[in-house]
Amino acid sequence: MTELDPLGLRRSVDAIGHEIPFTFEGRRLFGIEGEPIAAALHAQGVRIFGRSMKYHRPRGLHCLADACPNCSMRVNGFPGVATCSTPLATGDVVTRERGVPTAERDFLGAMDSVSRLTPVGFQYRRFRHSRRMFSVWERLLARLAGSGTLPEPREARALVEQSAWTTRDSDIVVIGGGVAGLAAALAAARSGARVLLVERRAELGGYAAMSAAGEDRARVGNLERLTRAESQLEVMTGATAIGWYAEDVLAVAAGTAMVEVRATGVVLATGSHERPRRFMDNDRPGVMLANGAERLLRQHGVRPGRRVAIATAEDSGYDIAAELLTDGIDVVGIADSRSSPVTGAGDSAETLRVNGVDLHSGATVVAALGRPTVSGVRIATRTGSSIDMECDALLVANGRRPARELLLQRAAAGGLALDVPDVLRDASVEPTRPIIDGWRLAGGAGGTETIDAAVETGETAGRAVAEGAT
Ligand code: FES
Repeated sequence: MTELDPLGLRRSVDAIGHEIPFTFEGRRLFGIEGEPIAAALHAQGVRIFGRSMKYHRPRGLHCLADACPNCSMRVNGFPGVATCSTPLATGDVVTRERGVPTAERDFLGAMDSVSRLTPVGFQYRRFRHSRRMFSVWERLLARLAGSGTLPEPREARALVEQSAWTTRDSDIVVIGGGVAGLAAALAAARSGARVLLVERRAELGGYAAMSAAGEDRARVGNLERLTRAESQLEVMTGATAIGWYAEDVLAVAAGTAMVEVRATGVVLATGSHERPRRFMDNDRPGVMLANGAERLLRQHGVRPGRRVAIATAEDSGYDIAAELLTDGIDVVGIADSRSSPVTGAGDSAETLRVNGVDLHSGATVVAALGRPTVSGVRIATRTGSSIDMECDALLVANGRRPARELLLQRAAAGGLALDVPDVLRDASVEPTRPIIDGWRLAGGAGGTETIDAAVETGETAGRAVAEGAT
C-alpha cells in the first residue's frame, strides 16, 4: 500500500499516471493527475461527499456521470463543482460544502431522526398563526438549507477575473460526444455544414468507449479519429450545454468560461441516464449506480468497494459482477428482480455460479443497511423470506432512461408547468422527427440502446439538420 493507494482500492499503482498531491480539508492527499477528483477521494477512503439539503443525510458517490448533486464540492474556491467529472490537478484545494461543522460529522444529521415532524412545507402549516415565529423559522431554514456558501466578495472578484464570456456561431451544434453524437457531427460536416461538437467529458466516445469490445471498440475509436480529423468540425470537450434560451441561444459552460452559442440546427445526442431503484435508505453512501461503478473501475482503475452486492433488473448486472470478481473483489450476491431464471447473462452468470456467488432471481432489495455508510443489504426472496448480506458497496443496475433535460427546459420556457410536446413523452423518437424548431434527437436520447442504432440515428439526424442549415 502507498500514500496513493492506502486502502488497496486501485487496480494497479504501477504505470497508471503521474502521482500528484492535493489538499482535502487541510489534509495532504495523493491522486493521479487528470483522474476525476472524486475517484482520487474514493481511493483515499472518502465515502461521505456531502449532505442532503433538508435532513442532512450523508451523500456519497452515486452516478459518476455528472447527473446527480451528490459529489458536488468546493474546488479552488469555486462552489458546486461536480468532482466526478472534474480532473485532478496539482495543488487543488478541495472541501465539502454542506455540514455543520463538517459533512463527515454533521450534527444537523439529527434532523433525519425527526423527519416525521418536519414533512414537506411543515413551516407553512405549523407557524401560520404567528408571523414572528414564521419569519424566525424561515430565516433559520434558509441558513440550514442550500448547497454550500458563496465566496467572500474579494474571493468572488478573483474568481470572476478568472472567468471569461465568449460567443460562438456555428451552422450546427451537436450536444454529446458519444457514438451518436460523433456520427451526427461527421454526417453534418460531410454535408457541408460548419459543426461544433460539445462534450462534457474530457474524452469522446461516451459509454461505448468504456464498455465496447472487439470490433465495436475499433469502430468507436475510428469514429473519434475521423471526427478529430474533419476540418469542418470543431470539438469542445470538458464543456456542458447547461441551458437553451430564447432566440435559440445555448449556454455552454467550459471550465471557468461561459460560451454563448448560436446555431441554426441542433442534434441532441446526450445519451441516457441509469435509473435508480427505490428501497429503504437507497441514498446511503456506498449505494452506486452500476455503470458509475463500472466507470470508476474501468476508466479510473479504482474499485467501488471490497465486498460488493448487486441489485439488478437486467443482464448487465451479471457482467459487472463477473468483472468485479475477476478483479479480486468479493461479490457477496446478486438480487435479480426478474422472476424468470437468468438466461441472457450467459457466461457471466456461469462464472459467478462456479465461484459460489449467491444468485437470487425474483428477489428485490428492500433496504440498505448501515450508518453512515453501507455495511450490508437486505433482500426479500421470492419465497417471502429475507436475507441480509454484508457489503461495503451496493451496485444498482436498473435500466436507463433518455437524457432530454435540455429539451424539457426549453419546453418549459421559464413557466412553472411543463408544457411538454407529446413527442418528448415517447420512449423512442425517430431522428428524422423535428422536436422543437428543427432540433433532432439521436442515440440514447432518442431511446436507442445499441451501437448500430446510435450510429444510424446519429447519421440520419446529422444529415437532416445540415439540410436545413446549409
Ligand atoms: S454527479 Fe458525480 S456522483 Fe453523480
